[in-house]
Amino acid sequence: MITSTQLRAKFLAFFQSKQHAVIPGKSLIPENDPTVLFTTAGMHPLVPYLLGEPHPAGKRLVDYQKCVRTGDIDEVGDPSHLTCFEMLGNWSLGDYFKKESIAWSWEFLTGRDWLNLDPAKLSVTVFEGDANAPRDEESASHWLAAGVPAGRIAFLPAGDNWWAAGPTGPCGPDTEIFYWLGAGLPPAGSNKGSDSANWMEIWNNVFMEYNRVDEKNLVKLPKQNVDTGMGLERTIAVLNGQTSVYQIDIYQAIITAIGRVSGYSYGADPTKDMSVRIIADHTRTATFIIGDPKGVSPGNIGAGYVLRRLIRRAVRHSRKLGIEGGFLGQLAEVVIGQFAGAYPELAENRQRILDELAREEAKFLETLQKGEHEFEKMLPNLLKNPQKIMSGRLAFKLYDTYGFPIELTLELAAENGLTVNRAEFDEAFKKHQELSRASTEGSFKGGLAEQSEITTRYHTATHLLQQALKMVLGDHVAQKGSNITAERLRFDFSHPEPMTPEQLQRVQEIVNQQIARDLPVTMEILPLEQAKASGATALFGEKYDALVKVYTMGDFSKEVCGGPHVERTGLLGKFIIQKEQSSSAGVRRIKAVLE
Ligand code: SER
Repeated sequence: MITSTQLRAKFLAFFQSKQHAVIPGKSLIPENDPTVLFTTAGMHPLVPYLLGEPHPAGKRLVDYQKCVRTGDIDEVGDPSHLTCFEMLGNWSLGDYFKKESIAWSWEFLTGRDWLNLDPAKLSVTVFEGDANAPRDEESASHWLAAGVPAGRIAFLPAGDNWWAAGPTGPCGPDTEIFYWLGAGLPPAGSNKGSDSANWMEIWNNVFMEYNRVDEKNLVKLPKQNVDTGMGLERTIAVLNGQTSVYQIDIYQAIITAIGRVSGYSYGADPTKDMSVRIIADHTRTATFIIGDPKGVSPGNIGAGYVLRRLIRRAVRHSRKLGIEGGFLGQLAEVVIGQFAGAYPELAENRQRILDELAREEAKFLETLQKGEHEFEKMLPNLLKNPQKIMSGRLAFKLYDTYGFPIELTLELAAENGLTVNRAEFDEAFKKHQELSRASTEGSFKGGLAEQSEITTRYHTATHLLQQALKMVLGDHVAQKGSNITAERLRFDFSHPEPMTPEQLQRVQEIVNQQIARDLPVTMEILPLEQAKASGATALFGEKYDALVKVYTMGDFSKEVCGGPHVERTGLLGKFIIQKEQSSSAGVRRIKAVLE
């Protein structure tokens, strides 16, 4: 049996043997990317480098990255879907391309010293071509050269073999690798194109040579890159001859713990087993989100809202297993134990994780009790109804006023011989959602940090702003968040009280003076310690690579930052602070525009 720790180590070692530098994975909360709530693929933190920025660690990189995807939440619990997973990735930034990428993937998968998978159980797909890019005969020829029979290579359309993280950004054709899940050996000629159900994707090699600028325009990137993503959980399952990701070491440990707290023995009842898997998945994801260096708390918008939904869904399923009280903390301890080696931040933030989970759990249990109580009060009247129907309006009232989930209303109603007018509830619910979630919804759609000229200017202005704030307010000012769109910058920083109008005026003046001075913006690559010693501002708690980029703006500002930035501050225009407000306890927020 191979464990997740062993697979991570093997992957890094293999690519190190091919001269790749190991870089640390990054936060789950993307910096400077208003279009996504979470890091959803290993490539997200590397986007600036895929677009052409030099990476301080070089052109060949290898890493593992924690990711969260909630788009498939309804499929969680089936054999291959998780909301939190890890991607192992090797990267070429304008270095090697299709030939080496394919040869090395094959060597790692089938090599006796590496994963030693049976070549007869592997198949691949390549891009069949369309108006954007030609049929990828080149990749197919490299697979043939590696020894993959022609019958195991499927040419598929863009829906399968074109990878883009979002509506804009780096993209390109990909070649995907699948493992046979069926019994025995796959029949001759079987591949993903002919038998979709029995082939499970384990690795995706994207050949990123394009940048989608907008809906109509696809331009060639300055360099040809490789972005690969191997699903850690799926690959372990395959290596161990398991057919579900929930059978691997990490999830088995969590599932055993769920058995301990519930007394339910896994395998006895398919419906309850599903609840166990959902709880296992959601607890891991919630633990990772809270335990991230940029940890999030449950809330009503954005990432906090997703977190709240995950926790509440886990609690709801726990009740199906007969768990009554707080249990998430006990499970989170198991998650922390399983992952702290690979993600030390989980152990560092252990107390915060336990506190947040306990608080949200208690809040939700209270909601449930209140809802049940209200239902009991409604019951005598409901039972008088000859058709034994509860109106959707009443069910919605329970949801809207008390936060009581419809699933529980349905259960309570059924227990009392009632049915609920679901259509009426759904209609009321839909209306409510349209109103209240419009803002959060957009954030699920994916997409990448925009790298246009205007956002680059805002990025540079943010550095000037941070330095000006330090000068006016003091050295306690530290960046707590940054979010840039083409319309404005938003900067969160630690400061205990509202700024006075004079302070705001002064900060704005200083930034505009530095713009007027037309300072040169320069970049150098330094070892992290040296960068810090040189006085460069760095984010506390952020994981940096061993070598980092330091951006200097004349004699005014020096920050560790991935870039990109404009070349001179004179390009920024006029800097205007529009708003200063509270962001959270001890954190202030400034919104500013360039005109
Ligand atoms: N970006 C690709 C993916 O997410 C490969 O890493 O599948």
